[in-house]
Amino acid sequence: MASPTIESVLNESRLFSPPASFTDTAAINSLDAYKALAEKAAADPAKFWAELAEQELHWFKPWDTALDWQPPFAKWFVGGKINISYNCLDRHLTTWRRNKAALIWEGEPGDSRTLTYAQLHREVCQVANVLKSLGVKKGDRVGIYMPMIPEAAIAMLACARIGAPHTVIFGGFSAEALKDRLNDAEAKLVITADGGFRKDKTIALKAAVDDALADNGVPSVENVLVVQRTKAAVTMHEGRDHWWHELQAHADAHCPAEEMDAEDMLFILYTSGTTGKPKGVVHTTGGYNLYTHTTFKWTFDIKDTDVYWCTADVGWITGHSYIVYGPLSNGATTVMYEGVPRPSNPGCFWDVIEKYGVTIFYTAPTAIRAFIKMGDELPKARDLSSLRLLGTVGEPINPEAWMWYHTVIGKEKCPIVDTWWQTETGGFMVTPIPGAVPTKPGSATLPFPGIIADVVDLDGHPVAPGEGGYLVIKHPWPSMMRTVYGNDERYRRTYWEHIPPQDGQYLYFAGDGARKDEDGYFWVMGRVDDVISVSGHRLGTMEIESALVSHPAVAEAAVVGRKDDIKGEDIYAFVTLEGQYSPSDALKQELKDHVVKEIGIIARPGEIKFADALPKTRSGKIIRRFLRSLASGEAIAGDASTMEDQSVLDQLREG
Ligand code: WT7
Repeated sequence: MASPTIESVLNESRLFSPPASFTDTAAINSLDAYKALAEKAAADPAKFWAELAEQELHWFKPWDTALDWQPPFAKWFVGGKINISYNCLDRHLTTWRRNKAALIWEGEPGDSRTLTYAQLHREVCQVANVLKSLGVKKGDRVGIYMPMIPEAAIAMLACARIGAPHTVIFGGFSAEALKDRLNDAEAKLVITADGGFRKDKTIALKAAVDDALADNGVPSVENVLVVQRTKAAVTMHEGRDHWWHELQAHADAHCPAEEMDAEDMLFILYTSGTTGKPKGVVHTTGGYNLYTHTTFKWTFDIKDTDVYWCTADVGWITGHSYIVYGPLSNGATTVMYEGVPRPSNPGCFWDVIEKYGVTIFYTAPTAIRAFIKMGDELPKARDLSSLRLLGTVGEPINPEAWMWYHTVIGKEKCPIVDTWWQTETGGFMVTPIPGAVPTKPGSATLPFPGIIADVVDLDGHPVAPGEGGYLVIKHPWPSMMRTVYGNDERYRRTYWEHIPPQDGQYLYFAGDGARKDEDGYFWVMGRVDDVISVSGHRLGTMEIESALVSHPAVAEAAVVGRKDDIKGEDIYAFVTLEGQYSPSDALKQELKDHVVKEIGIIARPGEIKFADALPKTRSGKIIRRFLRSLASGEAIAGDASTMEDQSVLDQLREG
């Protein structure tokens, strides 16, 4: 494990207090108010969450025990009965929100749709009944492999309604990756679309599902439900494949929400880790509902007049928690956009903000850096005056990008919430409360009330202010992951065994390096494991290495991240070849394409370098530190004397 490094940019000292125009209407509007909440929560987190659970959510039956903590396994609201689709839909229907816009959708080719809470409820009920008619029962897993269309959210809510855990697989994953995930989850049904629009092209989603299921590739899948989107020609397999619109047309629009145990599984979401195989992160119903509800409400200071837009894809946790569940549970208006900025339409985000009068805009540093490169003219040509709050997520934001976001997009009047969290945490962990906590460019600031976070060394001892260490969480929280699907041991090993418990208190190890400054502000410095972040997409280097060595030409592969101005990191692969193959540009292309086939377009290596040998220790371990230096064109740092063969480095430098 590499130790975190402190970069010079972290000597940032600028401080931005929430503007009066914002605090005037903010629900939590002073640092003292934040501190009072945080102190109350820290005194008894379980009690704090229990009070909120009672106040904020509808329960069919109250719980008996707020928290049952058998480290590292937590159960929240034990004995309580709840349904998140009920909390996101039904409970709003008896209020004026019945006819409020729940989902505003902007399609890639310029089509659009708005669904009110009543309309969304109706469609979710219909699709829930369709799923039932196809034999899906409470507890059955359903795969969702969809473009960014309303049906993706409808599918998730329909699954939640009948108690069938969903596993959403990002549309950019390949058929191979889809197959692995569907098999791991033993999905009974897959919901997909004929295709999706992506950057002026279409992607053949249904064809990928066909490939994944070919030759009984996923034995558990019985049916495939297909949304018509691009009208691409698809082959419908008799008895297995069904058109969504045909079945929906005949489905009953009444479907009572299943009364779920608070701890029943809501979804599995696969994410990359240190080993080759992605982990199925398990989230359950009650705690996840409460936590995404509360973090959305406070961090975005949500009001009924807001038009909130998160630019993530529903295939990631950000889309789950902060496009679908958090906003809808609050009765908010959430925007969903199918497009992405691309050379043919670089200003499309600003068009969407202007068209719908977006008030809260939540995106990723990689997007912000790309916008900076495209020039200020694009956002300046649009009316962005509706904006009142900005957010960022996915990777550390460099202070320059933060300042550009603040000035050019926020016109110096919108607070920026830099939200640090993970697939595993379910919701925001360290983030400013915008009307209360002054911000510093590049810092995620302070923990959310009820979250006890710290920076410690490998023994679990807190490090001094300003010193680098490991970000940990010291008390269970409602939306923490419950386990790795089907693998409790991997859950324990990955998150709870790197750092020993302190006085009986278990520490959740996030895998991020961080430091805390004199004001207690957190500065996240990035992953300390073999996980890299490419345009905010989390990828395991081992996963990419496994994909490379599955090609017959490759003997050995080592993958590292190389700093990239826009993407944050890019994939740099060192490859040694089997004897009968020789290096060529054609082979480089072939290997890049092979990785795309094995994992998906998001894992395409930026650079492949052929080598005669890789630098190794005498015991045969690849020395990644050296490869990282080589990839970034820096001098080899550190001692090379442990190397088995010194000439390997010279060869790599020259080649
Ligand atoms: C990893 C989690 C959480 C939704 C998106 C990514 C990095 C995330 C921040 C931030 C610095 C961040 C961390 C984390 N990360 N947000 N605001 N500042 N780093 O979810 O794919 O599970 O990745 O993203 O390294 O561990 P994910």
